[in-house]
Amino acid sequence: MRVLVGGGTGFVGRALTQLLRSRGHEVTHVSRQGGKDRISWEELSRSGLPLCDAVVNLAGENVLNPFRRWNDAFCREVVSSRVETTKTLAKAIAGAEQPPRAWVLVTGVGYYRPSTTAEYTEDSPGGDFDFFSRLVSSWEAAALTPGSPARGVVVRSGVVLGRGGGAISQMLWPFRLGLGGPLGSGLQPFPWIHIRDLAGIICHALESEHLQGVLNGVAPSSPSTSNGTFAQELAAALGRPALLPVPAWAVRAVFGAERAVMLLEGQRVVPKHTLESGYHFIFPDLSGALKDIVA
Ligand SMILES: NC(=O)c1ccc[n+]([C@@H]2O[C@H](COP(=O)([O-])OP(=O)(O)OC[C@H]3O[C@@H](n4cnc5c(N)ncnc54)[C@H](OP(=O)(O)O)[C@@H]3O)[C@@H](O)[C@H]2O)c1
Repeated sequence: MRVLVGGGTGFVGRALTQLLRSRGHEVTHVSRQGGKDRISWEELSRSGLPLCDAVVNLAGENVLNPFRRWNDAFCREVVSSRVETTKTLAKAIAGAEQPPRAWVLVTGVGYYRPSTTAEYTEDSPGGDFDFFSRLVSSWEAAALTPGSPARGVVVRSGVVLGRGGGAISQMLWPFRLGLGGPLGSGLQPFPWIHIRDLAGIICHALESEHLQGVLNGVAPSSPSTSNGTFAQELAAALGRPALLPVPAWAVRAVFGAERAVMLLEGQRVVPKHTLESGYHFIFPDLSGALKDIVA
């Protein structure tokens, strides 16, 4: 299969590319930077979709970039890097003479309203109550290609845990030094997935000829994981204590109140359709996932 991946040079994209190539698929990236096996967004807009069997979009400015202040300009970049790249790919798919068979978009569980009690499946309502939920709604709406034969799949991902990037790369040093701990109360749910499972679900979506609709990209045990449990398990995997909670005000001071919601609140998300679709998780439990990552 020839797969075109927007934002495929990033953390998730590298894992996906490795998996797809190991399964004999050809991968081309759509990127802001030139290079081998890459095309630019401008080229895609100008010349249309290159011949391919499937398209994936992973492009997006890193929301938790600690070097960027949470202001209007950064918010606009967070939105446009997702919505505009998705629109560009959707337009290219809709206009393709030989359309691809599958079109997979990765969004986030920020679609669902944070709660310590509610449990959400792919059928639960959401998408209309704060910045992140509205972002996911417009991102998913941008992917629509009415009339196109391409099968559409949206993977709503939780926090992606893996080596060499993502949230964990910023946490490892404080935890290694024994300075890690839960964020805020630590009671907020922590929806997570191992990077090999997120890449696995995307690959499963590409290869399963009849699969379409929304799949939650979280581990099966994720609904019972709180931020406090995560801190304890990460410390245990590193053989360190996790005694020092990071107060909510400090998280807000570093990230800004609106963005701090991502860390201080969370959703209990169940991968119901993902499991029903026949996907088998490599890392269903947190302790196994963390052992693999920090080993
Ligand atoms: N990592 C997570 O925990 C997590 C959780 C939920 C959802 N997601 C979503 O999954 C997708 C992939 O995540 P990731 O962690 O792999 O992301 P990432 O490594 O931060 O970035 C992915 C790629 O997006 C492109 N990109 C970055 N800023 C851009 C901009 N301003 N305009 C256009 N393209 C831009 C870059 O590709 P080029 O430099 O090649 O252009 C980058 O390599 C993202 O959309 C993210 O929102 C991630």
